[in-house]
Amino acid sequence: MSTLNQAELDRLLAEAKAADVSNADALEAFRIAHFGRQGLLKDLNERFRAVPGQEKREMGQALNAFKQALQAHFDEAKAGLTAEEDAQGSGADHTRPSGEVPLGSHHPIRIVRREILSIFDRMGFTVADGPEIEDDWHVFSGLNFPEEHPARDMQDTFFIQRDPDLLLRTHTSSVQVREMEKREPPLRIVMPGRVFRNEAISARAHCIFHQIEGLYIDRDVSFADLKQTLLVFAEQLFGSGTKIRLRPSYFPFTEPSAEMDVYWGLETEVDKRITKGTGWLEIMGCGMVDPAVLEASGIDPNEFTGFAFGMGIERIAMLKWQIGDLRAFFENDIRFLEQFTAAS
Ligand code: DAH
Repeated sequence: MSTLNQAELDRLLAEAKAADVSNADALEAFRIAHFGRQGLLKDLNERFRAVPGQEKREMGQALNAFKQALQAHFDEAKAGLTAEEDAQGSGADHTRPSGEVPLGSHHPIRIVRREILSIFDRMGFTVADGPEIEDDWHVFSGLNFPEEHPARDMQDTFFIQRDPDLLLRTHTSSVQVREMEKREPPLRIVMPGRVFRNEAISARAHCIFHQIEGLYIDRDVSFADLKQTLLVFAEQLFGSGTKIRLRPSYFPFTEPSAEMDVYWGLETEVDKRITKGTGWLEIMGCGMVDPAVLEASGIDPNEFTGFAFGMGIERIAMLKWQIGDLRAFFENDIRFLEQFTAAS
């Protein structure tokens, strides 16, 4: 094996450049002959090891320049062939429409929220939004929850340590206060959003869930308007002929207050279990906005009246699809989520 020298490298490069690379097979043969495991470069590297110490530096540089030139020649030949192939056409029709790309499915909470909002949209309600990190005023005080009042215990609250006035909103009723402060009546709005309560996670409770709040304020709004609006809503969501009832209840921000139930039926064992033997299912809280709440947000209760309501989206989705465990909404198990493809 003779020692490597510049003249030989020059000759090898000239030979390489003269080799046939005019088609894909020839190019592949070139690649194997030069860059392959038994190829020229491998051979040259071995011979480089035998170069005497004092020549190593200079020869190393020459060998590197050779490798780069060889690679550049190969890359250029390859690019030339690809361009030629493209020009001739590879036989594939690039104008053909692609196959359908599966994009997954909407989350059931999103499906129900959209359905509820579209029912209220048809009745002239627009959508309003508010922050999830709130202050005491918008979640409690502005809604007529006095500071030490036990009604605050109904909603186990996450407070934010850095600032005792800040908390995670426990209901979307906070957005009512923001909108009443910001705008003049008439107001006809629905307010969807995420809410937070310090609850242990179980099949029926979760520390995060979703609500939709409604608010209607104008001159001469009455309890009859509330009942009719909610009846239309229930019929659109659960089917015409759906029966509702309003049971007296208590919320600090409404007077009178009610709980709305829909008649679910008592035909099957499941009906009996989920309605606790009554046939009725609770869907939401509602009532006439307390005059003190209007006044606190700068609306004159002598001129305006209004009603409000609030419902949990998970609860309605559970009824709609007979989902037995609330945790399913938050686990994002693809086998659960994929079942809603048809609905979305
Ligand atoms: N904010 C109440 C809750 O989370 C639900 C509610 C009840 C909202 C009555 C209302 C209402 O607007 O009028 O339990």
